[in-house]
Amino acid sequence: MEAKLKAILADAQTEAPNVTDRASFEAFKARFVGPRGSLTEAMKGMGAVPKEDKPAVGRLINEAKTGLTALFDEIHSKVEAAELADRLGPAIDPTLPTVDAPSGVLHPIAQVREELVEVFRRIGFNVAEGTEVETEFYCFDALNMPGDHPARDMQDSYYLPAQAEFLNVSKKADERYLLRTHTSTVQVRTMLENKPPIRIVAPGRCFRRDTPDATHSANFHQIEGLYVAESVTLCDLKATLDHFVKAVFGPKARTRLRPSFFPFTEPSFEMDFFSPDLGKLSNRWLEIMGCGLVDPAVFEACGIDPERYSGFAFGMGIERIAMILQGVDDIRYYYQNDLRFLRQFIG
Ligand code: PHE
Repeated sequence: MEAKLKAILADAQTEAPNVTDRASFEAFKARFVGPRGSLTEAMKGMGAVPKEDKPAVGRLINEAKTGLTALFDEIHSKVEAAELADRLGPAIDPTLPTVDAPSGVLHPIAQVREELVEVFRRIGFNVAEGTEVETEFYCFDALNMPGDHPARDMQDSYYLPAQAEFLNVSKKADERYLLRTHTSTVQVRTMLENKPPIRIVAPGRCFRRDTPDATHSANFHQIEGLYVAESVTLCDLKATLDHFVKAVFGPKARTRLRPSFFPFTEPSFEMDFFSPDLGKLSNRWLEIMGCGLVDPAVFEACGIDPERYSGFAFGMGIERIAMILQGVDDIRYYYQNDLRFLRQFIG
């Protein structure tokens, strides 16, 4: 009996690799445990086994049964996997582009950002980047706005919890994290890392506490500009911005500087422009940026010798310019992601 049972199991094991589909699997099972299967027959022989041998033979039969069941399970999962693979067809590469996907376009704000940055790129400015989460040092202190400076109130800020260490922005122990209120942070980052001459523009997202309305959004974009070299004057600032305004708003556009105040520039100005080329889009002077000559205190905070170098800086809101160029009268349209709005800027 023992030899018989061993032979049954050995038979099943040799035959198993040939069983690859459901039909042969069913036939295979029947050969052993079907009504006339070899194990079934062996079990029928139990009657003839002497009483004292029954427990031992019973155990052998059980072992054979367990061995067979394990084999059946194994084959069954192989057959199922083969069937599934059959249904799914050949392996596909999901990273391949489809032939019929419509190609996207840049968001209208990004379109204007690229256009503005391109004007500066052509006259030798590089693009620099900062981070949206900043420390007070980059956003305020290094820009000549110490903790008690009233100008900090002009840029009501979003502060982050003190335990935001995971953000991996280096800071002093008593400094706070915040979302940058302007891209002027990139002036500081650039000057700390590079020696003059420096010519950069820095486009990016900024955040200020604001009640949203047609012209205000708590989340907006700016482009910062910084030029540092020996003997940079207001003439250079004016010429650069004149060129920029003509390139963007038309060759007949004019600019004017009005005295203003920023802690990080001295003197400081608001720049307005007027362009007859805009036709119906605008028939009056419009204010589009703050600018000025870099304050010596900022050079000192950034390790640049103010006796040797001078420079100019400017900062403008992208949305404001986009609204003028695109004839959009409510800033909120840019953030609602309504396709009826966005589709107007395709092509
Ligand atoms: N950072 C200023 C603002 O956000 C703009 C500015 C930039 C002014 C550079 C002067 C020089 O209002």
